[in-house]
Amino acid sequence: MTKKILVLLSALAIISSAVLFTVSAQDTPTPEQRAVMSAETRQGLFKLLGFNLGPIVGMAQGAPFNAELAERNARRIAAIAPMIPDVLAADTRSFDVETEALDLIWDNLDDIAIKAQELIEAANTFAGIASGGDRGATLGALRSLGGACGNCHDTYRVDDD
Ligand code: HEC
Repeated sequence: MTKKILVLLSALAIISSAVLFTVSAQDTPTPEQRAVMSAETRQGLFKLLGFNLGPIVGMAQGAPFNAELAERNARRIAAIAPMIPDVLAADTRSFDVETEALDLIWDNLDDIAIKAQELIEAANTFAGIASGGDRGATLGALRSLGGACGNCHDTYRVDDD
């Protein structure tokens, strides 16, 4: 290898490490940015729960009854709920994030896991009843499904309702 090529190669190495450094400096979020992303992720998950419960609540409020939709959405809730402890694992207490999550969540993660499990069970039970196709029985079971949401909100979410 000639000296000229060596000089060229080492110049390239310096340039590419400078590029890499710039990219990683841009891509690595600060702890604060990470906390904001965590809060957005968990809020997104809870929005999805609401998105799926909403049409069922609508049926109780007079929208046409649709047993298949009620069952499908309850099964979706049961599928999403196991992620609740995961999205709440990141402790965002010490960061300036927009959130309705109360600080005591992070002293009670065992209870969060229990409440998530109760929601899974309530959603599966509801889905089983909805699969029977009976309007009265299905809507009658909504209280305990909604209760599994409210149970956690009462303790761990800012009281705004
Ligand atoms: C184990 C606790 C827990 C359970 C169970 C739970 N939630 Fe929540 N939910 C929370 C917490 C905590 C927040 C606040 C999150 C935040 O602001 O960072 C929240 C926020 C929400 C929000 C507002 C999201 C937003 O930021 O716009 C909706 C909607 C919601 N929950 C719906 C539901 C529904 C529907 C269920 C039941 C199917 C449910 N949640 C079950 C804890 C829970």
